[in-house]
Amino acid sequence: MTLKEKIIKAIAKHGDTSIPFSLFMEMALYDKDFGYYTSQSKQFGLEGDFYTSSSFGDIFSKTIGNQFQECFDTLEKNIIEFGAGTGKFALDTIVRMTELEIELDSYFIIEKSKKLQEAQLELLTDKLGNDLLKKIKWIKNVPENFEGIIFANEVFDALPTNIFLSNKGKVKQRKVGHRDDGFIWIDYDFEENFDYKISLPESKIIFEYSPAYNQLFNQFQKIKKGVVLIVDYGMSEKELFHSQRSEGSIRSFYKNQITSNVLDNVGFQDITYNVNFTHLAYLTEMINFEILGYTNQSHFLNNLGLSNFVESGTSAKHFQDLSQVNMLTSPSEMGDLIKVMAISKKMPTNLMGFSDFDKTHTL
Ligand SMILES: C[S@@+](CC[C@H](N)C(=O)[O-])C[C@H]1O[C@@H](n2cnc3c(N)ncnc32)[C@H](O)[C@@H]1O
Repeated sequence: MTLKEKIIKAIAKHGDTSIPFSLFMEMALYDKDFGYYTSQSKQFGLEGDFYTSSSFGDIFSKTIGNQFQECFDTLEKNIIEFGAGTGKFALDTIVRMTELEIELDSYFIIEKSKKLQEAQLELLTDKLGNDLLKKIKWIKNVPENFEGIIFANEVFDALPTNIFLSNKGKVKQRKVGHRDDGFIWIDYDFEENFDYKISLPESKIIFEYSPAYNQLFNQFQKIKKGVVLIVDYGMSEKELFHSQRSEGSIRSFYKNQITSNVLDNVGFQDITYNVNFTHLAYLTEMINFEILGYTNQSHFLNNLGLSNFVESGTSAKHFQDLSQVNMLTSPSEMGDLIKVMAISKKMPTNLMGFSDFDKTHTL
């Protein structure tokens, strides 16, 4: 049975012949046989469908290494990376920690896709010696009483979300049905409540709300002491619900092009959306963690001394480094569209990454 047939079967099984978008997205991205992330490992970079910050080179991880270094002044030297993609961030970070003479106790990876786990193992085995390799472990859940850093780059925006449409206080849920040869949107009245009080505008707006964020926050809750660094496309609820964004943010990527019909090409294109950081701030409070900072990627990396990693002179490497910095910090791209949020348990520290332009008050 193809992925499309599997989804059609799931739709037929549901009483109202439609499924929530979160189930469609879960199957499209993570179906065990045909999901976009579970059936292959070629999503990233020029040959794939999209770039992430660590795909351009190692300046992103080196700069974030400065933040890790500061945290490790007061924390046990463990890292858990959620959703490690190709394993490139893990590789560059482990190398950077060695350069900084920080001896990691463990580097854990929690990765949902078996195919990506295999790719990560291959890259790390290829590039690291046994001494470093033995510190890396693939685990399913955050260990109870973990102390250290948790890192997640572009993981929340890959978690299944539901989609809603609101107009003058009336909310409908946009579900997925099937007609003729394709999938279609069907809107149903939505009478339930969201976990927290969403501040919806009066005017018509389509928006995403992910019930899956709770799962990751429940994992974070298990730590004894530490910092969780969340890096993702997204913004505060106030910005998300601005009239300029009334069509919502759900989108697909295929061969480095954005495609707006997320219901097409199922299993072959990525599906993503902007993370609502106000929702994450609410969940932070629910698990009794504290927000240490929230800002955009450009400010965060600049606060951490990003430019120090650009090779000086006029060599080809210098220009490559500049181009990397430009990609990471450009205001119309990753620099402002991506936000960084740090939350913590038992670590009321001011982090260097938020020393200027901390926008926590906007959440
Ligand atoms: C957009 S990719 C980002 C990959 C990588 N962090 C990077 O920046 O290149 C999303 C990653 O999160 C993984 N993922 C999605 N949901 C997950 C979950 N619940 N737990 C762990 N990994 C997850 C995906 O399999 C994939 O590796």
